[in-house]
Amino acid sequence: MKIAVIGRGNVGGELADFWERAGHEVKRIGREGGDISEAEAVVVAVPGAAIAEAFDNVQGLEGKTVVDATNLVGAEPPEGFSSNAEFVKSRTNGPTAKSFNTNFAALYDRIGEAHSTPSNLWCGDEEARQVVEQLSRDAGYEPFYAGPLENAALQENFLKLEFAINRGGLGRFFYRMATPDQL
Ligand SMILES: NC(=O)c1ccc[n+]([C@@H]2O[C@H](COP(=O)([O-])OP(=O)(O)OC[C@H]3O[C@@H](n4cnc5c(N)ncnc54)[C@H](OP(=O)(O)O)[C@@H]3O)[C@@H](O)[C@H]2O)c1
Repeated sequence: MKIAVIGRGNVGGELADFWERAGHEVKRIGREGGDISEAEAVVVAVPGAAIAEAFDNVQGLEGKTVVDATNLVGAEPPEGFSSNAEFVKSRTNGPTAKSFNTNFAALYDRIGEAHSTPSNLWCGDEEARQVVEQLSRDAGYEPFYAGPLENAALQENFLKLEFAINRGGLGRFFYRMATPDQL
């Protein structure tokens, strides 16, 4: 698959490495932007508050299947939207999914240590299912469906719950290493 990853930091950079190793062709886009018209799948991994600015510098978004991995830490989605993922869809008019935002990049290199395949929550359009499930599996996760795109705000807020669990002392592995039947 031809994948464009917008944001090449902890999340975008390391997921791009996974997908290249799985045989995909990956174009990495930083804040300078670029043309993604050839991509069959697009993954967004920029700071949540920078999503609108990032999209302004990217050409070829129309109709693309996009997986939005952003989180909003101390920020709100663009005005008029309840989630970044719904903003994404308004800019692409294509199949959209929210995913990879509930797994910490610091644990990417430990996925193989899990006693069973860790799950990767996603919500979004049915038309995005094949792409998001394949990208999840090729990064080492088992995809776990969390409903339609309207649930993206809930999934973005899930991070706050994860932080609370971690602060509560239940440990950072609690969600990362759970399998779907344990959730
Ligand atoms: N870190 C995690 O564990 C984790 C887990 C799940 C989700 N997330 C979310 O995933 C996103 C990325 O996190 P990260 O940890 O990978 O961040 P990061 O390491 O800081 O990388 C951010 C990337 O976004 C790019 N960027 C910054 N401002 C931009 C702009 N205005 N336009 C276009 N690109 C811009 C940067 O470009 P340059 O390369 O040009 O500087 C960089 O490549 C965030 O929304 C974060 O909340 C993070």
